[in-house]
Amino acid sequence: MIRRKILAGNWKMNKLNVDVAPFFKQLKESLEKLQPTKSGFNSIAENGPEVLFALPFPLLVGGMQAASFYGYTVAAQNFHWADAGAFTGEVSAAMLKEIGVTSTLIGHSERRQFFGETDQTVAKKVKQAITQKFSPIVCVGETLEEREKGLTHQVIERQIKSVFQDLGDFSTKELASLVIAYEPVWAIGTGKASTAEDAQDVHGFIRKQASTLRGEAFAQSLRILYGGSASPKNIVELFTKPDIDGALVGGASLVADDFAKMIAAAFEA
Ligand code: PGA
Repeated sequence: MIRRKILAGNWKMNKLNVDVAPFFKQLKESLEKLQPTKSGFNSIAENGPEVLFALPFPLLVGGMQAASFYGYTVAAQNFHWADAGAFTGEVSAAMLKEIGVTSTLIGHSERRQFFGETDQTVAKKVKQAITQKFSPIVCVGETLEEREKGLTHQVIERQIKSVFQDLGDFSTKELASLVIAYEPVWAIGTGKASTAEDAQDVHGFIRKQASTLRGEAFAQSLRILYGGSASPKNIVELFTKPDIDGALVGGASLVADDFAKMIAAAFEA
């Protein structure tokens, strides 16, 4: 099964609208210099990796205009599980759809760590995403303490079970847009990425879980991204692993030249 690679940038709470156009201009120039060989820069949308940027809400409209020109898409970094209501400070799927955004991160570890997201809220958001025909990128990953105690698989199993716990009413086809991002918490923003071998171990484990929960055909089509200090330095090796279908990139996605190198690597993978 060939799974199209995804390269997703996560800008977190960085940059302003004024930075968007210069960023994409620089990205284009860097890519033109690199000339990813397999398909050529111009056909990036058809034959290359899927490229998307998870942007802060106020940057989505401007980002979409700049990104779509290159065949890239933008995603939100979060949304609420309810259709509407008294949820001050939150944003609904309908609000995102209205501006043309149908993709979002869910359960990023920073949301879990700083904003009280739990396996339960993640499950509700995943259900809402599938109901609203969104493409969710759902983040899972163990903390350093959990890894050192040998609990990595246990934690991942619990988190993956919760991702699928409310999806019983949906067909496999309806779940085709679901993407999982494995982001070991200790690797995020630390410069200490997981080794490709360790990441492959967990990615393989996630695919096994998906097979148990939703069947082998679904598991084989599920795209699983690695995140946590992914950079131009380690991306090529990460992409050699059979169960690594792309990357969710924080810091390196803020630097157009670095991200261009990673897009080029996804072309070659
Ligand atoms: P990082 O962040 O690449 O800066 O480690 C990844 C993420 O949090 O999505």
